[in-house]
Amino acid sequence: MIKKLAIAVMALALSGGAAMAAGKAGKVYDYDFSFEGPFGTFDTMQLQRGLQVYTEVCAACHGLRYVPFRTLSDEGGPMLPEDQMRAYAAFYEVFDPTIDDFRTAEPTDHFPLSALENAPDLSMMAKARAGFSGPYGTGLSQLVNGMGGPEYIASLLAGYTGEEKEEAGTILYENTAFPGGWISMAPPLWGDDVEFADGAPTDLESISKDVSAFLMWTAEPKLNARKEVGFTAVMFLIVLSVLLYLTNKRLWAPIKARVKGQPAE
Ligand code: HEC
Repeated sequence: MIKKLAIAVMALALSGGAAMAAGKAGKVYDYDFSFEGPFGTFDTMQLQRGLQVYTEVCAACHGLRYVPFRTLSDEGGPMLPEDQMRAYAAFYEVFDPTIDDFRTAEPTDHFPLSALENAPDLSMMAKARAGFSGPYGTGLSQLVNGMGGPEYIASLLAGYTGEEKEEAGTILYENTAFPGGWISMAPPLWGDDVEFADGAPTDLESISKDVSAFLMWTAEPKLNARKEVGFTAVMFLIVLSVLLYLTNKRLWAPIKARVKGQPAE
């Protein structure tokens, strides 16, 4: 049985490795994020900075169709004060089918769709591109190293080499993180593209990480709460195990004492 299991595990690991090797994977740096590991949580200030980068740069092309504006005030998110969140939503116009016209967005509305047709929606991108260590394998690496989606996005944004070429009428930009090496998104960030109120650094790597952290939040807004519940559940199970162990000892104590007292046959 154990032998069979070992062979199965080996086969799984090998097939994962082989599938990873096929196709030219990009170079993804293992950036550190505050939300990695079993106890990691989002850094509110970083999420606010990421929101700013998204708004000032990425929103020109990319949408966030699954994210309602009101969640920007949620616990465990960027936690914008209520009035700031309302003011932020009011910057946007959404199409309302009931009046068949555009109107100012309200907190219950979602971010718009991508403005540029071939720019993918970014709401779920940090999850869609997860699998830093491959979607294959045992999953242990993901647990230890993080999911990899935000690392990929940060590496992508900071991974332009400056080379470009034209292919069938589209300009492609060389990027060390993008699978295949050539992407049709022009370098969106150069460093110092934004100015932060909290005085945080605005070099290319820092702002790439900030916006990647924000996109991780859009993909998994309940991460903080999930980890809290997980921690409570584990603590509860530990306490329960101790109690059950003690109960078990107590229940069997008289019987064990009796068995011990009997002469051996
Ligand atoms: C000028 C328009 C434009 C801007 C601004 C822009 N993007 Fe893009 N982005 C694109 C296009 C077009 C693609 C599709 C590229 C492709 O598949 O070759 C893309 C693709 C992506 C992808 C997916 C890559 C993949 O693995 O498929 C990510 C992630 C991304 N953009 C993030 C961002 C972020 C973050 C910002 C803001 C810092 C940003 N983009 C700004 C046009 C833009």
